[in-house]
Amino acid sequence: MKYNKLLWIGTWISLLTMLGSFSLCGAEEVNTLSNGAPVSKLSNISFRNDIQPIFDANCVACHMEGAAPGGLILESGTSYQALVGQTSRQSRLQRISPAKPDESYLIQKLKGTHLNKLDSQLIDTLRAWIIQGAPDN
Ligand code: HEC
Repeated sequence: MKYNKLLWIGTWISLLTMLGSFSLCGAEEVNTLSNGAPVSKLSNISFRNDIQPIFDANCVACHMEGAAPGGLILESGTSYQALVGQTSRQSRLQRISPAKPDESYLIQKLKGTHLNKLDSQLIDTLRAWIIQGAPDN
């Protein structure tokens, strides 16, 4: 009888330890995409191959030399310097603050009042690149 009781207690302790380590694993995923998937699913994003093509297809029709709404040119060769570490015209935030997507005005703008909406998957790609530190790669 006594031995059985000890066995039960032992089983419970090992179960609880297992549960504990599971929840620790979950806690590592701090940055998640809009669909709840971890950002680690999107890795090694290249500014040249992944980010600039988003601007070319969705933004430069308006954000081009000469017009530049919001004082922002997103054409290839100009966009990186115009974004990373640059304070936005409309807020005190940087347009892109490396490693801080939620403090990057470009992300807030595209999710908020901007007249042109961007597909949430593409916003996730932008977020993941910013989380990587917004490299000029
Ligand atoms: C249909 C034209 C149009 C397109 C396309 C467009 N924009 Fe804009 N954008 C504007 C206008 C107009 C403004 C200024 C008025 C405003 O804030 O809404 C602006 C402002 C901005 C600003 C704020 C700049 C600052 O420093 O305050 C950001 C950031 C921006 N756009 C990013 C983008 C991105 C990224 C894309 C592509 C995904 C894009 N825009 C596509 C018209 C456009």
